[in-house]
Amino acid sequence: MTNSTTIPADTAVGISRRAALLIGGSGAAVALVGCSTGPAATGDAAPTDQEGATTSDTGGSTEVAKLADIPVGGSLEASLNGKPILVSQPTAGKVIAFSAVCTHRGCVVKPVGKEFDCPCHGSKFDAMTGEVLGGPAPSPLVAVPVSVTGDSVTAT
Ligand code: FES
Repeated sequence: MTNSTTIPADTAVGISRRAALLIGGSGAAVALVGCSTGPAATGDAAPTDQEGATTSDTGGSTEVAKLADIPVGGSLEASLNGKPILVSQPTAGKVIAFSAVCTHRGCVVKPVGKEFDCPCHGSKFDAMTGEVLGGPAPSPLVAVPVSVTGDSVTAT
């Protein structure tokens, strides 16, 4: 009994050279076929940056909004160091801010009334606390420390 396998040319069409070399091989070779899928897939493309906004690396504070622009009981979109944040004013003169990066898969949430809504999978957050109101998000939005000086809201 021989250990060689001959593949007729007409049946080898459509089989990669590697697969053809492995046909008739050992179990280990078959296992390699399972590991060889060509170019690596890029995997899940969801953003992974859950850090949220941070203060600039210069050590100074950065203005993120004007107090007068934030509706009392509402919020607005802003950015800090190029990252999206949400700035809310629960009561007159009291300002809080959150990273706009959804804690589920990293999409950017948007202010909708007294909520922040995620367009990707429907998570909803309380715009005044960042707490999860519904959806798959596992945790509240990350708070961004801010302070108010006059009409200027700055990240600290
Ligand atoms: Fe926001 Fe999935 S990324 S709900």
